[in-house]
Amino acid sequence: MSRRSISKVIARSTPLSSSSASAVLQPWRAIRGPAPTAVRSSIWTRGVKTRTVIKASSLPQGVLAPLPPLEGDDAPTKSYPTVLQQHLNNVRKFSDCVVLTRVGDFYEMYFDQVKEFAPLVNLKVAKRATLLGDVPMAGFQHTQLDRYLKMFVHDLGKQVAISEQVRLPEGERSGKAGAPMYDRKVTRVITAGTLIDENFMDPYENNYLLAVHLEGALPAQSTPAIRSEAYDRYKRTTKVGLSWVDLSSGDFYTQSSDLASLPSLVARVGPREVVLDSTLESAGQAQLQSLLGEGGFSLHYHQTTQMASSVADWTPMLERAVSDKDRDAFTSPEIAAGNLVLDYIRNKLLDQQIRLQPPVRRSDDEYMSIDKQSLRGLEIRSTLRDGTFQGSLLHAVRHTVTKSGARLLSQRLVSPSMSLSVINNRLDLVQEMTGQDALREDTMALLRRTSDTLRLLQRFSIGKGDADDLLSLAKTVDVMGRSSEVLHDHIVKHQDRAVEEVVEPAAAPLELGFLWDILGRLDLEGPARVARSIQDAIDEAGLDRQHVAQAEDQAEAEDMTDEVVTADIAGEKVPKLGKRASRSKTPAIETGPDEIWIMRRSASPTLERAHADLEKLVHLKRELAQRLRKQLKAESLTLKWSAQLGHHCHIKGRDAQGTLASLGGARSIGSTKSTRTFYLADWTHLGVRIDDSKLRIRTEEERVFGKLRGQVIENLMKLRRNAAVLDELDVACSSATVAKERGLVRPILNDGTSHKIVGGRHPTVDAGLKEQGRIFTANDCAVGDQEKIYLITGPNMAGKSTYLRQNALITVLAQTGCYVPADYAEIGLVDKIFSRIGSADNLYQDQSTFMVEMLETAEILKQATPRSFVIMDEVGRGTTPEDGVAVGYACLHHLHYVNRSRTLFATHFHALADMTRDLDALVCYCTDVAEEGDGSWAYVHKLHRGVNRESHALKVARLAGMPESTIAVAAGVLAGLRKDRRYSGAGPLGHGTAPDVAPKLAAAAG
Ligand SMILES: Nc1ncnc2c1ncn2[C@@H]1O[C@H](COP(=O)(O)OP(=O)(O)OP(=O)(O)O)[C@@H](O)[C@H]1O
Ligand SMILES: [Mg+2]
Repeated sequence: MSRRSISKVIARSTPLSSSSASAVLQPWRAIRGPAPTAVRSSIWTRGVKTRTVIKASSLPQGVLAPLPPLEGDDAPTKSYPTVLQQHLNNVRKFSDCVVLTRVGDFYEMYFDQVKEFAPLVNLKVAKRATLLGDVPMAGFQHTQLDRYLKMFVHDLGKQVAISEQVRLPEGERSGKAGAPMYDRKVTRVITAGTLIDENFMDPYENNYLLAVHLEGALPAQSTPAIRSEAYDRYKRTTKVGLSWVDLSSGDFYTQSSDLASLPSLVARVGPREVVLDSTLESAGQAQLQSLLGEGGFSLHYHQTTQMASSVADWTPMLERAVSDKDRDAFTSPEIAAGNLVLDYIRNKLLDQQIRLQPPVRRSDDEYMSIDKQSLRGLEIRSTLRDGTFQGSLLHAVRHTVTKSGARLLSQRLVSPSMSLSVINNRLDLVQEMTGQDALREDTMALLRRTSDTLRLLQRFSIGKGDADDLLSLAKTVDVMGRSSEVLHDHIVKHQDRAVEEVVEPAAAPLELGFLWDILGRLDLEGPARVARSIQDAIDEAGLDRQHVAQAEDQAEAEDMTDEVVTADIAGEKVPKLGKRASRSKTPAIETGPDEIWIMRRSASPTLERAHADLEKLVHLKRELAQRLRKQLKAESLTLKWSAQLGHHCHIKGRDAQGTLASLGGARSIGSTKSTRTFYLADWTHLGVRIDDSKLRIRTEEERVFGKLRGQVIENLMKLRRNAAVLDELDVACSSATVAKERGLVRPILNDGTSHKIVGGRHPTVDAGLKEQGRIFTANDCAVGDQEKIYLITGPNMAGKSTYLRQNALITVLAQTGCYVPADYAEIGLVDKIFSRIGSADNLYQDQSTFMVEMLETAEILKQATPRSFVIMDEVGRGTTPEDGVAVGYACLHHLHYVNRSRTLFATHFHALADMTRDLDALVCYCTDVAEEGDGSWAYVHKLHRGVNRESHALKVARLAGMPESTIAVAAGVLAGLRKDRRYSGAGPLGHGTAPDVAPKLAAAAG
């Protein structure tokens, strides 16, 4: 059911707009012929004008370039109709936008934009005849705005200026022929990063707009030569400020960093749109891309118009000012980025006000750093191969029941914590939820009933939000209250259990103090009052009836639009639509109390009185009708209203033959054999009073609604804080659910630098195999103490890459505060995780396969610390075996002596095992193939100490379906090579399998 604001509801129900079906037809009829109703026709069928008078308030926005001179002698006397003129003005002012102009119930495009954009979104093109010739036009029903915005903004990365029709004040238009009735004013520019409540937003991910501010100038165009130490130094010393905002939830963050870390930060934030200062517009696209890193966002430049000098200047856009103490912490690049993002938002929202949460400063020390490649390589949010969600870590561990909970989990997974207390607090909650089925199930059942509170609240903060939103909010507040009760009851029931009960073998029994803390953060008093007011005021049944009516209207309107557009394109006249409109909706309606009201009568004394008045008037109407029926002996008499005729009386059938003589003052308007229509002063007066009374009710409903909205705004902060608590509960329940389903354990985190996993499994491979009824072979890992580097060899397909990733993922999960797939896990906090995995070309950026591999490897060697965790999968495979071995050895050497990080290094270069014998902290592990006497064989995924010099590449080739003849040739070559002293492996077959030792390279590298 689509959301409608109350103002739309009011408009629809006032007497002037009783026939919504005809209203839908108006704009198109303006092109083709007269409109069916007198009132509306003044809007739509003023026809072609020769003179346009424009009042000051209807002047187009901003300073405008003059229109191009018109050709021909009579040019000065001709102009486009006002709508088109207004549209053109807006196109000029918002020159980088698709401009959609509201005309009645439609959004339309004209002129060149039609040619350019209509085909992109499959809009049919029509023509509008004007004195200056036919003008191309395309449009769609206003109810379909989100659908087209999705295509323009989301799919095509365009900016869309929405030009609404604003009714000009009475004084400016009455009595002046040709004066425009409406101004067309761009009220908002919609871009990918400034979505607020559009229903095509991804509910499971935040919709961030990120502003990046660079301190200092960019160097000349980046070239491979610039990847020098000097350029490196430049990147590390150039400060950048980042600031990102999610308008749909009000989240607002800032962070300081350097140019070198920028791509990783951008990847972590995952913005939909990035905005840079307009001074950077001259930089090359490729250079900016290399600085920001590519990845699914649209890029725009902005020149700050309103310069703020300090955080205090942000206050008007915040729900609460930043405290003096916190203000000082913001660095100047952060302030510049914050200014840029807020100014850009102001520029796009135009008149619309928004309230953001006070900015939260993020710092690199708080989070485990996962660089851009590792984020991709570890497939945390999407898979490497095709970028899908299914198969990612998030997919494997997400069992949240609310959308905002899902967003929180996604955020946490890309920024695992570096704080033992934060992690342990999260784990405590997961432990409680895992061990206490009733608590978990009750909480999840409650959470399922909530709405997306943060996004809901944001609608109110921008002055939107309808009756449905209010009710959803009231229900969510109810859930907040009940969740608090559930927690409270749980604590009271279990607070004495203390040491008796050990819920989890890896964890000591919990004191329940942390639950009190959570409970204490739920502030219910104000929100509960708002919820009660909402429930007391809004009539849910009335709202349901309204939804049904709206759905019917909308379906009908869309059907008719299709018909009109099709006919217009075919060049046909569309008279049958007029008939259809009158068929589908009786133009004259019988006036009665059958309006749909969305507020209870008891919502205010005025409403109570107004409803009582209306009832009295409706009673009078019934009496009048009865009296007239008796007097005229016409049982079929009805008292009606229509837009063309106003209030009139109607008789049909045989009754229509009678005379009106007995009625003093009746004035006949028309009669046929079977109908008779006439005015009667009694009914006209009474009808007007009924309309007035209804209008009073609508106005009062609107006032009450505004009051409720105000109450919500007053409680915004409390509601947001409570919503955040619900999200935390959701994430904990999710982790607990996965833990129970898949036998996960609570990890133990400490300050050390070792990584001890017993029976570790890969979260997604394990789940995938289980679905196929297969078993995952669990593996231990104890890297970090004496053994700092594992050098892992083994056959193709025997699980090396899986092992590397599972250990990295277990670390990520543990520091996210989730249970992990292992029998036991004890992990020293990891500051940075690095994963050098697949190789990918980046030809656009002048980077070959091997170049990408080396760039990524170089970053790891430069950045990894003794607290870091590094996985390297087949480094050196993108070049000749000799070069590869050399590079591989050099990396191990550097990691061993310089970085001293925990490292898992998988390779098919078996020579490395021999070459690294002197590296004390390096140990060799391998996987295997078990071969039977009958020629059958199986992979042994269990990791054990040693070196496996067999890659069994041809087994995989055969499994992959390589032709037998090819396999036979390969086997022949392999046998030949083995005989040849120069090779003992299968190196020349391809990358990713084994060459032999290259001792002289080792010596060189050593
Ligand atoms: N521990 C395990 N238990 C069960 N199956 C496993 C295990 N590890 C890996 N597998 C299965 O084997 C497949 C291949 O594993 P993986 O890619 O890790 O092999 P690899 O040794 O890295 O091979 P290559 O040398 O060709 O890169 C996985 O997709 C998974 O289906
Ligand atoms: Mg592999």
